[in-house]
This record gives sequence, structure tokens and C-alpha cells, in this order.
Amino acid sequence: MTSPASPKTYHVKSFGCQMNVYDSERMGDLLSADGLTAVDTPEAADVVVLNTCHIRERAAEKLYSDIGRLRQPRADGSRPTIVAAGCVAQAEGAEIGRRAPDVDVIVGPLAYHRLPELLKLARTGRAVDIDMPAVPKFDSLPQRRIAQASAFLTVQEGCDKFCTFCVVPYTRGPETSRPAADLIAEAEALVARGVREVTLLGQNVNAYNGGLTLAGLIRALAQIDGLERIRYTTSHPRDMQGTGGDDLIAAHVEVAKLMPYLHLPVQSGSSRILKAMNRAHTRESYLATLTRLRAARPDVALSGDFIVGFPGETEADFQDTLSIVREVQYAAAYCFKYSIRPGTPAAAMADQVPEAVKDERLARLLAAVAEGSLAFNRSTIGRRCTILLERPGRKPGQLIGKTPWLQSAVVSIPGAAIGDLVEVDIVDAHPNSVEAVPVVPSSQESAAA
Ligand code: SAH
Ligand code: SF4
Ligand code: F3S
Repeated sequence: MTSPASPKTYHVKSFGCQMNVYDSERMGDLLSADGLTAVDTPEAADVVVLNTCHIRERAAEKLYSDIGRLRQPRADGSRPTIVAAGCVAQAEGAEIGRRAPDVDVIVGPLAYHRLPELLKLARTGRAVDIDMPAVPKFDSLPQRRIAQASAFLTVQEGCDKFCTFCVVPYTRGPETSRPAADLIAEAEALVARGVREVTLLGQNVNAYNGGLTLAGLIRALAQIDGLERIRYTTSHPRDMQGTGGDDLIAAHVEVAKLMPYLHLPVQSGSSRILKAMNRAHTRESYLATLTRLRAARPDVALSGDFIVGFPGETEADFQDTLSIVREVQYAAAYCFKYSIRPGTPAAAMADQVPEAVKDERLARLLAAVAEGSLAFNRSTIGRRCTILLERPGRKPGQLIGKTPWLQSAVVSIPGAAIGDLVEVDIVDAHPNSVEAVPVVPSSQESAAA
């Protein structure tokens, strides 16, 4: 069974976080620049890139189930060229070769600018690059081809924090920041393609230091005409303390284009567990940061990540997590059962929590989070705001846009198109969305009266 000698089409499948979404788009840009055409399904592609995630065991296993499907011969006896990219490739490069001999290319998240070259090398045997090169890949990437109103922009990569549960420092390497000038140029090019909102990405985006601080970068990007909205994610509570945090909070007051939203994962409400996680913040220091932020920008929406069942977590610790969810009233929260990651310190800790206990705690946490999201959405009823229309809704004539607080707002506006920014009033709330109606310009109102 052979893979195509001169591939014409490709498909990139993205798993994991938004940084992988950015990388997947960029791998697509590379392959398109090399003359290949994107297709919508892996079944139709000559080259399939699986851009993998290693964060939890189940995320990592998806690589092997996908390879199993892809290696089945097609009607003409061929199979696609299979590329294992992303964080599983970085962490398990050698093991992938053993477990899945049909993989043609193994490439890590810091080396994918070499993808076209690796595909050529793969014609004579498996090509592997899981180096963490000193030369930044970003310098060797082609122009972006994105055609969407909202785009991701990776500004910072890697992590120096070494939370005891997490693989990211091993898969993405140390914290590095892209030069501010490069980012301003990339944002300008995006705006020239019709992009109206950028979300600045980093595993620890608020540790950004590419010549400017994150707040400085946001202020510089806000000067770009046609760029209407700026967001950033994911922030680390430790980097919100001190002057860096003050500066970012000040930007939330000064910069109108910076959306009132902060994703600030706390992981647990118990300071005892946070210490065992090596998070370098406590429940109290985390809540103090939110108090400072809310004093400056009272309408800010908050979201977070939570892990239940970290080794040694007692019912009392878990109650602290439930109480922080109620205290903060998150607009959204992402909840995970602790997953043992080989090689991380927490994997070797005593007192691993039984799976049934994790399941039961996750269910209770999800209920508390859903209650909080609904309460948050209800609290926005009556607000007038601008939404960025992003996709069609379920019913004919409906469109879905994002409010400043990252809610999905369902609206019917005759004549409006995806990519438009429109003024609406929020009139109803559900757990995962709000309903909005367009603000009728006063001239039309009086004409109708
Ligand atoms: N840098 C970000 C998080 C990146 S990983 C931060 O520090 O907040 C995204 C989320 O996955 C984490 O916030 C955490 O909640 C979750 N996660 C990471 N490792 C995990 C593990 N071993 N088991 C379960 N969830 C995990
Ligand atoms: Fe992982 Fe912690 Fe780094 Fe976030 S800060 S990526 S959770 S090690
Ligand atoms: Fe997953 Fe790697 Fe992102 S492990 S969460 S894809 S940084």
C-alpha cells in the first residue's frame, strides 16, 4: 500500500487548544504555498495532518484512533500520507513510530515550518523533526490566507511554570515571545484581508515580552485602523500580580478596542491543592487580582479552567472549588478531570483520586458552572452592545455574533452579513447564548411611529 508520490490535496485536523488552531491554519498556509489544495475531509486528501494535543490521556489517544482509520486502503488501494504534528508528536515522537508504523512524518509544534521539506523527505522513509530550534519558525511562514472576521494571532509560546500536572512545558518548550514589530505587521496584513478582531494567543500570554509588554502590544495594535476588537488568552494568575498586571488592568480601562473579558484559570479553589499543583498563586491572591480588575472595569466577564480530582484532593478541597465558582460568577468555565500525564511530578504523587470520585465531582462542578453562566447571561439582559457577526444561526435569517463578553448572541437583522459589527440590545438569556435585537436607528423609529 503506497501513499501518493505527488500529493495534490491536503486536510489538517486540529485537536486541543487555540494555539493548535493557529498552527493548523499556518500549516495549511505552508501546504497551499507549496501548490496543494485544501479539502474538507481527510477521506478526500492526499496528505492528512493530525495536529495533536497531549494535555489529557484521551486527547492523546485520538491520534492513534485516527491513524487506524486513515491507514485502511482506499478503493484504489492507496492511503494518504499521514503527518503526526503537534504536542503528541513532540512528547511521544519515537513511540509513535513504534505504535503506528504507517506514519510518514512526525513534526513537533516548533518545527512545522519545515513541513513541505519533510513531506518530500518522506518519499524515501519516515521524516522526523521534533527539535526545538533556536530560529523561530514564524520567520519562515508564508503570508496568511485567512478569510474570516476574527483571527488568532500567536504572540507567545511555551511555558516556564511547570504546574505539576501539566505537559505543556515539555511539548512547547520555554516561554518565548515574538517581536512586537512582527506582530503589528501580521495584524496589519490580517486587517487588509478583512479581519476585524484578533485574539492574541499564548500559553501564558500575559508573560509576553517581545519588546513591549502585553498591554503595550495591545495599545500599539489598537492604533491599526480597521482592527476593531482585541482579545487575548490564556493568562496566568501569577503574571497578573505586580506591575505587569496593573498595566494590563489599565489597558482594560483605556483601550476601547480591548474587549472586557479575561480568561484566568484558577484550577482549584483550595490553596493547599494550588500549592501541590505548583501554581504560584493562592485562592486569596487570585481573588485579590479579580477585585482589582473589577474595581477598574466593573463589566469585565471572567472565565476559568478547573481540574477536579488532583492527587490528594479531599471533599473539603473540592468544596473550596465549588465556593470559588459561586463567589466569582464566571461567564464560562472549562472543567476537567485530572488526567495522569507520564513524566509529570503529579503522576508520581500518592493519593490518586479514584475515577468514580472524579466523575461525581465533575458532575457537581459542571452544575455549579452552568448555574453561574446562566446567571451571568441573565445579568446582561437590557445591555446595549456591539456584536461581531460570525456565522449563520440555526433558523433562516438568523445570524450569530459575539458580544464584547464573548457570549454567542442570536439575532435576525435583514441585510446584515457575516463580518459586520452591529449594535443590538440583549433581550433574553440561555445557559450558552443570549438573544438580541438590532437597535433601530432613531430616524427609522420616528418614521415607523
Ligand atoms: N497555560 C494555561 C493552561 C493551558 S492547558 C494555564 O496555566 O492556565 C489548558 C487546561 O487544561 C489547563 O488550564 C488545565 O485546566 C487543563 N489541564 C492541564 N493538564 C491537565 C491534566 N493533566 N489533567 C486534566 N486537565 C489538565
Ligand atoms: Fe501548563 Fe501550568 Fe504552564 Fe499552564 S502555566 S501551560 S497549566 S504548566
Ligand atoms: Fe494540547 Fe499542546 Fe495545546 S498539549 S492544549 S495542543 S499546547
